[in-house]
Amino acid sequence: TTKLDANEQAFQELSNCKNLDEIKVIIEKFDGCPLKFTAKNLVFGTGNKNAKIMLIGEAPGAEEDLTGIPFTGQSGKLLDLMLKSIGLDRNELYITNIIPWRPPGNRTPNNVEIKTMLPFIKRQIELISPRLIILIGGIAANSILQKNEGITKIRGNWFNFEKIEVIPIFHPSYLLRNPSLKNLAWKDMLSIKNKIEKA
Ligand code: URA
Repeated sequence: TTKLDANEQAFQELSNCKNLDEIKVIIEKFDGCPLKFTAKNLVFGTGNKNAKIMLIGEAPGAEEDLTGIPFTGQSGKLLDLMLKSIGLDRNELYITNIIPWRPPGNRTPNNVEIKTMLPFIKRQIELISPRLIILIGGIAANSILQKNEGITKIRGNWFNFEKIEVIPIFHPSYLLRNPSLKNLAWKDMLSIKNKIEKA
């Protein structure tokens, strides 16, 4: 038999897996992304596996690298408030990141890292099969939508990904640095609230 290359084998396992726990196991043993070797912990998705709404961020920061849970640091606190403002609780949603390991010094993940990890996120989307996906920040938005646009331009617009309605929003860490953009962020949260009410 031909020996599959390690990445190919992981991608084959991925298409055969039946639930999120299995995806986690595959990522835990996946060595195809070097960020694994500088991170302290894997930060896999958390929340409701049957969620109607899925949130996808960029990559873990220092706090998440320690806790192993997405959005537990400063930007996570703001995200929780943004969700709460339209009556959502993170426990009813599914929250994950494009990249499951912290990039050193919180640098932006590069295109190779994103491309390598994209099949894992796409499989999570398939298995959760949410009605709506919120893309948190430009990296998540451009990675999923296969675009190369500024977040200021695409935020607040509804797109389709595999028949799922998708909206990019400002990343809360960007809002912490640019508080004057919070009015636009609020507009986007209302657009999400509207969409949920119509669904
Ligand atoms: N920023 C992200 O994009 N994801 C996290 O989990 C934390 C901060």
